Amino acid sequence: MTDALRLVDITEDHLDAVVRVRARSFGPLAPGDHERWTKDAVEFLRDGRYLGVADGDEVVAAARIWDFQQWWGGRRVPMAGVAGVVVSPEYRGRGVGSLLMRGVLQRSLDKGFPLTALYPATTVIYRHLGYEYGGGRYRFDFQAADLRSLGGKEVTVRRAGPADAARVLELVAEAHQSGHASGLLVWPESKVAEWLEDESNFAYLADDGFVVYNWDHRNLSVDELIAHSEATARALWSTVGSGSSIASTVQAYVSPHDPIHYLAEHEADKQAQVQRWMLRLLDAPAAIAARGYAPGVEVDVDLDLQDPEVPANNGRWHLSISNSQGTLTPTETSGEATRLTPRALAALYAGTPLKTLRTTGQATGGNPTQDNLLQTAFTGPTPYMLDYF
Ligand SMILES: CC(C)(COP(=O)(O)OP(=O)(O)OC[C@H]1O[C@@H](n2cnc3c(N)ncnc32)[C@H](O)[C@@H]1OP(=O)(O)O)[C@@H](O)C(=O)NCCC(=O)NCCS
Repeated sequence: MTDALRLVDITEDHLDAVVRVRARSFGPLAPGDHERWTKDAVEFLRDGRYLGVADGDEVVAAARIWDFQQWWGGRRVPMAGVAGVVVSPEYRGRGVGSLLMRGVLQRSLDKGFPLTALYPATTVIYRHLGYEYGGGRYRFDFQAADLRSLGGKEVTVRRAGPADAARVLELVAEAHQSGHASGLLVWPESKVAEWLEDESNFAYLADDGFVVYNWDHRNLSVDELIAHSEATARALWSTVGSGSSIASTVQAYVSPHDPIHYLAEHEADKQAQVQRWMLRLLDAPAAIAARGYAPGVEVDVDLDLQDPEVPANNGRWHLSISNSQGTLTPTETSGEATRLTPRALAALYAGTPLKTLRTTGQATGGNPTQDNLLQTAFTGPTPYMLDYF
């Protein structure tokens, strides 16, 4: 690395250079996508969420930060979603990506995000900086004919449009709060309205559920389906399955524990797809306080956190969980503490078994009783996302 390399905030003047680096990293933008890409880029840079590395005047790397919220244990936690991490080929392998990502971590902290997440194209660089697998985006393929025969004909299902965005969000929130869900992104009402307005999406609403689906070549693809009763689950899935004379397969982005796995007669195709995403705690006390925990869980454990990238997380902490509320407070006690790397903390937050963290050398110290308590505190439904970013 030369001394001339420095972190910069991307400006509108840099965007042509960013497009060039991007093309050398992900392939060229499709001709029709340039306008949309620029419009999005401007939104990021105006809010200080587009960072780059410049060599002299030339931008040679860039990354953007989405202002997201993510469900954790049935509560919404602000999360910095890192995307579009690109380094010009001639600068790769010299620490430019790491310089950029350190800037992204600091900026996300400055903006008050307790968490950050990303879909890694390669895990190495992100693991060095404390990210670890947090969950997946699962796609299962069902036989359309199977879904068609699920019934639910007694349920009234009507077409939904942008005016239903608030109701759709209510149904989502009810589902994720009561299901103690983790991983899913929270979209603002304006984006949900755009999604419902898009003519290529087919949206249907029942009293206690909705579905949004579309075509993917000759198959149907379910973006999201929420149902609060068996009858509505049957009705919405069979609405999608009614396309079985044309589409033999319905692809669905759902959790591995979604009710559809238990309702459909045949199991989903064995070739399920999983895109894993990684998580990192930026502000450990804030992240612990913001998420939900299963009712009835009572935990008191000392932790020793070692975070070279975010010194504020370093040191000895007391983790207390009671009445579905967690706190992490500095402590001076000298009893046994479970030592966690940032990767272990992220993976634990996402419900990864202590056994895995110990076997990979990421968790040390402590004792089996503390392991059991930590496991009880963070175990919950498999974290998953519906969206790629
Ligand atoms: C991935 C990318 C951003 C890394 O940038 P970079 O400047 O080469 O990264 P650094 O030099 O800071 O490397 C940091 C670490 O990651 C490792 N690394 C970087 N690219 C890697 C790759 N493709 N495969 C495996 N490890 C990789 C480096 O070896 C280094 O680890 P080490 O210190 O143990 O050797 C860059 O190669 C790139 O733009 N690739 C194409 C686009 C892309 O994949 N973006 C990521 C989207 S999530």
